Amino acid sequence: MAVSVRDVAAAAGVSVGTVSNVLNRREKVAASTVERVQAAIEELGFVRNDAARQLRAGRSRSIGLLVLDVSNPFFADVARGAEERADLEHMSVLLGNSDEDPVREARYLELFQEQRVNGVLITPASAETATLTRLTESGIGVVLVDHEIPGSDFWSVAVDDVEGGYLAVAHLLAIGRRRIAFVGGPSSFAQVANRLIGARRAVDEVPGAELEVIEMPALSVLHGRAAGGGIVARAAAGRPDAIFAANDLLAVGLMQALTMRSTVRIPEDIALIGYDDIDFASSTVVPMSSIRQPARLIGYTAMELLLKSMDGADEPGERRVRFQPELVVRHSTVG
Ligand code: RIB
Repeated sequence: MAVSVRDVAAAAGVSVGTVSNVLNRREKVAASTVERVQAAIEELGFVRNDAARQLRAGRSRSIGLLVLDVSNPFFADVARGAEERADLEHMSVLLGNSDEDPVREARYLELFQEQRVNGVLITPASAETATLTRLTESGIGVVLVDHEIPGSDFWSVAVDDVEGGYLAVAHLLAIGRRRIAFVGGPSSFAQVANRLIGARRAVDEVPGAELEVIEMPALSVLHGRAAGGGIVARAAAGRPDAIFAANDLLAVGLMQALTMRSTVRIPEDIALIGYDDIDFASSTVVPMSSIRQPARLIGYTAMELLLKSMDGADEPGERRVRFQPELVVRHSTVG
């Protein structure tokens, strides 16, 4: 395993940023610290990252990050993580927003090529991968973010969304709910489809439990509010006793619609759980349970993989990182 900047920092008892300064801007570092870092570099046999140096030596110093919905705090956290790692290599991140629209996505991919970015991190809005393959073949690194394409050679960082969907609905079943609604976005999004697979798996394990699927055109607060309005309009007996929303923005909209005019009590009448665990989830009028994705770490790791992909130094199996989701229980599903 190659010695990393992080190993050198630990051995010298300094931050990764200080090691980076010793390597690139030595004049900014105290002589005694330079000596300590150099001793650690020699002792560990550290060899600096050639791809990073190539990037600094005049090739593009930027990468493109293309997210599905820039207004979703989940992607803001992903972008923060990617930018944090890129900064260690003195690179910049150009942010694009596909707004879940394949046409906008294609336009941004063209723009990133014109800008001669060195790599692209993308949460695809389109199932079509020909453009991404062309980018890879032209020497531009591509890492899928919060998404993977099984059986492909694409590098990717994702979360086990099937497990995440299972955790969400198993929790609702564990508190005694049996008429469960899944409120999702377009099933063409692998994240949504996989969360539903997990939800179905949990329901199938409990005799008498039912799962209703309500598919919305997008994963937004407005569409969550529309779905909630439809549920409130039903007679009480026709409503679910629990809702699993495919992401927290949908869940926030559902909570607004259900609790407006005090029509429905959460969790007493309808328990509600979201997905992502964005910061707002804990501060909604009824603190919301959610399935946590390590968004910032996803972004950081995706950038890390992009650098590795450009080194060409990938071991078998190194191209895919999959994090585990985590159940976060708050008042919206208690009892
Ligand atoms: O953008 C839609 C959703 O996909 C986000 O909320 C996040 O869950 C991602 O996986």
